[in-house]
Amino acid sequence: MNFSLNSKAIANTKADCLVVALPEKGDWPASTTEADGALGGLISKLQKAGDISGKSAETNLIPLGDQTWGRLLVVGTGKDADRNPASFRKALIAMTGVLKDGPSKSVLIALTDTTLNGNGDVSSELAKLSMIGRTLEDQLYAFSDFKSEKPAARKLSKILVAASDTGKAQKEAFNLGLATGRGMNYTRDLGNMPPNICHPMWLAEQAVKMAADHDCIKAEILDEKQMKKLGMNSLLAVGQGSTQPPRLIVMEYRGGKAKDKPHVLVGKGITFDTGGISLKPGAGMDEMKYDMGGSAAVFGAMQVLAEIQPEINVVAVIAAAENMPDGNAARPGDIVTTMSGQTVEILNTDAEGRLVLCDALTYVKKFDPEVVIDLATLTGACIIALGHEATGLLANNDELANELLAAGDRASDKAWRLPLWDDYQSLLDSNFADMANIGGRSAGTITAACFLSRFTKEYRWAHLDIAGTAWHSGKAKGSSGRPVPLLVDYLMSHAGK
Ligand code: BES
Ligand code: MN
Ligand code: ZN
Repeated sequence: MNFSLNSKAIANTKADCLVVALPEKGDWPASTTEADGALGGLISKLQKAGDISGKSAETNLIPLGDQTWGRLLVVGTGKDADRNPASFRKALIAMTGVLKDGPSKSVLIALTDTTLNGNGDVSSELAKLSMIGRTLEDQLYAFSDFKSEKPAARKLSKILVAASDTGKAQKEAFNLGLATGRGMNYTRDLGNMPPNICHPMWLAEQAVKMAADHDCIKAEILDEKQMKKLGMNSLLAVGQGSTQPPRLIVMEYRGGKAKDKPHVLVGKGITFDTGGISLKPGAGMDEMKYDMGGSAAVFGAMQVLAEIQPEINVVAVIAAAENMPDGNAARPGDIVTTMSGQTVEILNTDAEGRLVLCDALTYVKKFDPEVVIDLATLTGACIIALGHEATGLLANNDELANELLAAGDRASDKAWRLPLWDDYQSLLDSNFADMANIGGRSAGTITAACFLSRFTKEYRWAHLDIAGTAWHSGKAKGSSGRPVPLLVDYLMSHAGK
């Protein structure tokens, strides 16, 4: 796909399709008025006649025959009071849905002069350009690697986005959006990959590939021997039932000053979670291929950094293992000594995410992190608490938590904070070790984070539970690419200029 910005008058810009916004009531954006004038009042007439309403995210494709534009796509942007970045994104999703399999080869999207409620961070032209770029990329995503019959090639090949100017600021904003969309799509490719291919060593190879493709990324892979030497017995216990050996994957992006402490991202990379000896029920178990969603999001964010090259230092650590039942698998009742020296009684082998993360969270101390953010499809309980809208956020530092919440809001990739009060810690008491790996039925997301918090005392830390947001189930089953937008927004807000 060829993407570019365009600041010429839309009436002078030819395209197979022109996209304009139509409010349900109230003032029109200048582009809509301009298009209406060029088309002899067509849009006003159709709205008056009731053929098109302007309701939020309603789309109408109108053939124009042989004019400057072959077609007009009118996208409803609703009532003034309800128009915000989230409704704008919904309108963009509807627009892309019409364009992606349609007959137009080239389109001119004239939506950046749509007014949105909200502060400048989210309602400015630059914010809209970024959101348009991201949404176009992420909504044009398809995963057909394993279909014998490939989908017919798309006609759409050239996208022009109207902007007031095509200067540096506009280009940067648009490109950041496009890169974020591509980062999401990379995350989705990794997530959708079947688990017989995507195992820990395959994930490690992807990191090596990324480092080979980008000078600014370095990769280091730790095998079982190296992990054993470091005392990562908890991570190793999770992997020991699988014929696919576990790996610790480290990637470094150093775009900042040498003295800038790195932001560290830690991803749960369970390439398949059967539950182990505490075996999961069979129904829907295929979706546990997405249990490496945290690591997939870390990969996606790293790819965005490699593309944009902001001034910031970021280290990524992925704890990759496959959780399988086996004669050699860890048992309920096993006690392991973690890299931190603390002992854990494994009461449920299906609470394996925290077991791999705790050793990775101890390992990252060596980077003297600015902050550590871990991402994990950690608990089914998070889906019960927050559904599929918001990522669960728990943190040992209010400032970091608030920054991540704000990044999620700005990026329409929401998170919601849950408490991490000490009162919950006793639920992890074990009769035989320093702690158990489960805390009983209540507050499952919180007790999981409480477990992790025992390994993160020496730095500012936040945990993102993406169990409900990393993928979609049902007919539209597939990885979502979340929370790459949140991560990118957060990291960019910390990048130097
Ligand atoms: N990967 C799962 C969490 C999960 C389940 C995410 C379903 C998304 C959908 C995790 O490893 C797990 O099995 N957690 C257990 C923890 C329990 C044993 C304390 C859970 O949530 O049931
Ligand atoms: Mn599990
Ligand atoms: Zn899991």
